[in-house]
Amino acid sequence: MSQLFSPLAIREVTLRNRLWVSPMCMYSASDGIVNDWHHVHLAQFASGGAGLVVAEATAVVPEGRISPDDAGIWSDAHTDAWRPIVRSIRDRGSVAGIQLAHAGRKASTHSPFADAQGSVPLAEGGWTTEAPSAVAYEGFAEPEAMSVERIAEVVDAFRIAARRSVDAGFEVLEIHAAHGYLLHEFLSPLTNQRDDEYGGSLENRARFTIEVVRAVRAEVGEDLPVFVRFSATDSAPGGLEVDDVAQVAAWARDAGADLFDISTSGLVAHQRIEVGPGYQVPFAARIREITGALTGSVGIITSGAQAEEILASGQADVIFAAREWLRDPHFALRAAGELGEDPPSIWPPQYIRGYRAPSPALTRA
Ligand SMILES: Cc1cc2nc3c(=O)[nH]c(=O)nc-3n(C[C@H](O)[C@H](O)[C@H](O)COP(=O)(O)O)c2cc1C
Repeated sequence: MSQLFSPLAIREVTLRNRLWVSPMCMYSASDGIVNDWHHVHLAQFASGGAGLVVAEATAVVPEGRISPDDAGIWSDAHTDAWRPIVRSIRDRGSVAGIQLAHAGRKASTHSPFADAQGSVPLAEGGWTTEAPSAVAYEGFAEPEAMSVERIAEVVDAFRIAARRSVDAGFEVLEIHAAHGYLLHEFLSPLTNQRDDEYGGSLENRARFTIEVVRAVRAEVGEDLPVFVRFSATDSAPGGLEVDDVAQVAAWARDAGADLFDISTSGLVAHQRIEVGPGYQVPFAARIREITGALTGSVGIITSGAQAEEILASGQADVIFAAREWLRDPHFALRAAGELGEDPPSIWPPQYIRGYRAPSPALTRA
C-alpha cells in the first residue's frame, strides 16, 4: 500500500487516506449561511476519494468575513445550514473539517469575482475592520487596533464557533493563522506594532493564537483533532521566517494542536514568492523536523506520484490540495489508479464502471 492511501488516526478520528481537500472560499454564502453550492462543491470531493474535506475559511464573527459573501458560523442558523453538508461528506466515507477564521484587516473586501476590487465601502455593506495595529494592507481601508477586551471576545468567538462546528458534525477543526488574516497579523512584526502583552516579543505576538488553540481544545475535548494553518514565512524583509513559525507551532502543539497545515505568505502586498510545483514543501519539512508534530504540505501538488514522494521522503505526513480538486473533483480516485491501489477499496461502488473505462492511467493497476 502507498503511504498516500494509508489511513491515519488522529485522536478518535480515522482518515481513510492522506490526500485531503484544502479549504477554499467560495464567496457564495448569504449573511454567512451556506447553501446548495457549498453542499455540491464539498460533497463531490468526498465521492472523489478525499480522506478529509476541509470547508472554507468560516468566520467566527460577522466582521471576520473576507467578503460579505463569506461563510460563517456565528448563530444556530449557520450551524443548521452546515449540518446536511457534513452528513453528505461523512456518508461518502470522508471526514468533514472546518477552517475557523477571522480575516482581520483583510476583511470587508469585494469577492474576487465582483466587478470592483479592494475594500467594500461602509455605504455599500462593508464594515470597519480590526487588526493588532491601525496599519492598512496596501490599498485597503485602515483597520482599528483591537483592545485587550476585544481580543478576549474574539478568543471566545473561536471557542463558541468550535462548539457550533462540533454540533454541526465536523470532526476536524482547523484554526486559520495564515495568509495575512487576523491571527497571522498578530504573529508578524510587520503588522503587529503593539506595546502590550500581545506585541513585541514572539511569545507576546503568539499569545492570541495560543489562547485560541487552548480555548478550542478545551471546548472540543480530547477526542477530536485540532489543526492550525500557518504561513511559514512572510516572504518579505523583516517578516516571519520559518524557524519563528516553528517555535509558535511548538507552543500551539503544547496548547493542544495536533497537526500543522503549512502554507506561506499573504501578509503584505510587497511579498516576493517563487511559485512552482511543491514550492511550499520545504517549509512543511522544516516545521515537521523542529516540532516533531504531524505536518501537512500544500501548494501545486497535482499527481499521486508527486504526493507519494513528499510523504515517502519524510517531508510531510499528509497532503492538502486545492486547485487540483477544482480541475478534477475525483483527484484521489485518479491518484489511487496512478499508484496501483486496489480500485474497489477506493472507488465508490456506484462509480466502479468508470474505473474500467479504457484510460491508461487508471487501467495500469
Ligand atoms: C478558490 C480558492 C479559495 C481559497 N480559499 C482558502 C481558504 O478559505 N482558506 C485557506 O487557508 N486557503 C484558501 N485557499 C488557498 C488553498 O487552500 C491552498 O493553500 C492554495 O491554493 C495552494 O494549493 P494548490 O496549489 O493545491 O491550489 C484558497 C485557494 C483557492 C484556489
